[in-house]
Amino acid sequence: MVGLLELLLAVATVTVSAQTTVPVYGQCGGESYTGPTTCAAGSACVYQNDFYSQCIPGASTASTSSISASSTGTSTTSTVSTPTPTVTGFVKTSGIHFTLDNKPFTVVGANAYWVGLMNYGVADMNTAFHDIAATGASVVRTWGFNEVTTPDGVAYYQSWSGSTPTVNLGANGLENFDNVVAAAKANGLRLIVTLTNNWSDYGGMDVYVNQLLGQGQPHDFFFTNATVIAAYKNYVKTFVTRYLNEPGILAWELANEPRCLGSTSASSGTCSISIISTWVEEMSAYIKSIDSNHLVAIGDEGFINDPGNPIFVYQGYSPSLGIDFAANLNISTLDFGTFHLYPDSWGEPANPFGTQWIEDHATAMLASNKPIVMEEFGITDDQVDVYGSWYSAIESTDVAGDLIWQAGSVLSNGESDPNGAVFPGSDVYVLDTQHAAALRARDGDPQ
Ligand SMILES: *[C@@H]1O[C@H](CO)[C@@H](O)[C@H](O)[C@H]1NC(C)=O
Ligand SMILES: *[C@@H]1O[C@H](CO)[C@@H](O)[C@H](O)[C@H]1NC(C)=O
Ligand SMILES: *[C@@H]1O[C@H](CO)[C@@H](O)[C@H](O)[C@H]1NC(C)=O
Repeated sequence: MVGLLELLLAVATVTVSAQTTVPVYGQCGGESYTGPTTCAAGSACVYQNDFYSQCIPGASTASTSSISASSTGTSTTSTVSTPTPTVTGFVKTSGIHFTLDNKPFTVVGANAYWVGLMNYGVADMNTAFHDIAATGASVVRTWGFNEVTTPDGVAYYQSWSGSTPTVNLGANGLENFDNVVAAAKANGLRLIVTLTNNWSDYGGMDVYVNQLLGQGQPHDFFFTNATVIAAYKNYVKTFVTRYLNEPGILAWELANEPRCLGSTSASSGTCSISIISTWVEEMSAYIKSIDSNHLVAIGDEGFINDPGNPIFVYQGYSPSLGIDFAANLNISTLDFGTFHLYPDSWGEPANPFGTQWIEDHATAMLASNKPIVMEEFGITDDQVDVYGSWYSAIESTDVAGDLIWQAGSVLSNGESDPNGAVFPGSDVYVLDTQHAAALRARDGDPQ
């Protein structure tokens, strides 16, 4: 089982010559890499994965040999061990950036919703996080929910008997999530934890509505009915309180992709932007009132409210959406903005739609002076070209970072959910590794 030990003991062999030096955070090695391998002064070439080694400042244990070697033009070999960043302290924000201990903190990584839901053992969790961390990732977004009316073998965090919910504190409940957090931290990663789902996958909002208000009641009553809000607050309180002092949590998210419309239930017909934003204000203030350590965000798709725009995802006022990205950034108890990018599902071309979508969110970011994260995105065709163009847009617009949908690992019982998965060694995995390095270099992230 490939694991943390290998990461810690990974050794890079650096051939030093008197050629061009690689700038800090630049690539200095990896399978099929043919460029320069000597790192700029003060940095050393550190193995990240078989496909990518990178010049990391202060990582060198061999600065003496590299300096003398380059001045004499001879070849020498030095070894450095890969540091796994220690996860301590709480990530904060400053203007449009994230910070840790008042230094830049880059948010880059992947979604892995499945890591806490499939009854994986600790070894598999470690493999999953190891594979993600090896790209240079800092953050993983995952589900902190699974609402069940009948437990079905996988981990679940709340069960319902009629209108009575019970948070699952046991081995296949929050104790399992404790293991998720520990495995992420052991690999130098922090988690963005989403606490319910607009969609009916793994329960979500419609379970609250159906169990508390009656089967088939409108999806958007989740946002307005006092009984439902109280039940959701109780779940959130139990979950959040357990991890109040946990630096392995980067942020809480109110819901995955909240919209007026549900997948299994209708809308009331009265849902609107103000219905959801009022709920966001109340829920984000509630989390802040019990947890002053962690950041809070919505977890939404970032619909833009631009009346007259012919593109659906710019029609935030639509009664099936109910989201105004720019206005929501004004909510004082939200620390950063979130948006997703799925041109295939939205009936749009990958580009220029995709880069424009990123630029339009960056405009709202600058107006609000809060960081924003493209926290889900995916496309089916031409992934390397399209993601490359989107990454360029992220890097150049100062959008704080992004999390691809989604990470994939080969685990003891086979592949993790292959839906859109990026497995180690794939072209996209290599691209993601380069992108993480570029974002860290842009930000001056010392990790
Ligand atoms: C979430 O939003 C989408 C939008 O409908 C809707 O189709 C999907 O059905 C929603 N899912 C929910 C809401 O459960
Ligand atoms: C919430 O739903 C319950 C059950 O239908 C209802 O009795 C109650 O009046 C609703 N509350 C609000 C504020 O809508
Ligand atoms: C955000 O709040 C400011 C100050 O109240 C206001 O001027 C601005 O229009 C708001 N932005 C949005 C998009 O609502």
